[in-house]
Amino acid sequence: MSTSPQDAAAALAERTGVARHDVAVVLGSGWGPAADGIGEATAEVPVAELPGFTPLGAPDHRGTARSVPVGDAHALVLLGRTHLYEGHGVAQAVHAVRTACAAGARTVILTNAAGGIDPSYAVGQPVLISDHLNLTGRSPLVGPEFVDLTDAYDPGLRAAARDLDPGLVEGVYAGLPGPHFETPAEIRMLRTLGADLVGMSTVLETIAARALGARVAGIALVSNPAAGTTDEAIDHLAVLDAVHAAAERTGALLRGLVTAALA
Ligand code: HPA
Repeated sequence: MSTSPQDAAAALAERTGVARHDVAVVLGSGWGPAADGIGEATAEVPVAELPGFTPLGAPDHRGTARSVPVGDAHALVLLGRTHLYEGHGVAQAVHAVRTACAAGARTVILTNAAGGIDPSYAVGQPVLISDHLNLTGRSPLVGPEFVDLTDAYDPGLRAAARDLDPGLVEGVYAGLPGPHFETPAEIRMLRTLGADLVGMSTVLETIAARALGARVAGIALVSNPAAGTTDEAIDHLAVLDAVHAAAERTGALLRGLVTAALA
């Protein structure tokens, strides 16, 4: 079976009955409940049934692609992602985003759960990603693709998000390979480097989407204080509870951003 993003997009069109998806939303850990805020799906496909996708390994990642009508347009809502730490390689980690772009998406909204490095962040708080540090040591691009990442996280979409949710703060996201959490010394290093948030996703997807000319918006949900910033141990399930509690705010924000992206 062929595994190109173009084949996956063709299969998606066939399975959903929607020829073109204009905007894509990738939902990270704990963002499932917020997904319902975007709208009613007309079709839901397990991504493992689409060419080139691997079954998703992270907990709380449902592994489905939903087609959601928004006005006259269609949003592709991907519940779950493949992380670099799952060991399937960089191309797999960005396959969903490339499929979304091949399906027609000109805007990609990436969400994740992240550790809060900035001590002013509260657990359950969404933070708009203003920029990133790609510390995975990898790129999804091969060959002379010198993509400009100056405005990797689209300034217009960021302004729209701040209009929608005036309490929304912005931060720099450090993307690490994982799957372990960081040491307190690593968190102090990241803070010195200018990171406000830390996680194990998003950065490679942003690069892949920008290389294909799509606009990107990123929202992190602070699921825990980063290592060493409090006395608490980091527990993946506690993390999920915190992000679920924020679903109403984050659902409204996603819906608003999808609508703004289509305007
Ligand atoms: N570190 C890295 N990734 C994460 C964290 C963290 O503290 N929380 C959620 N994803």
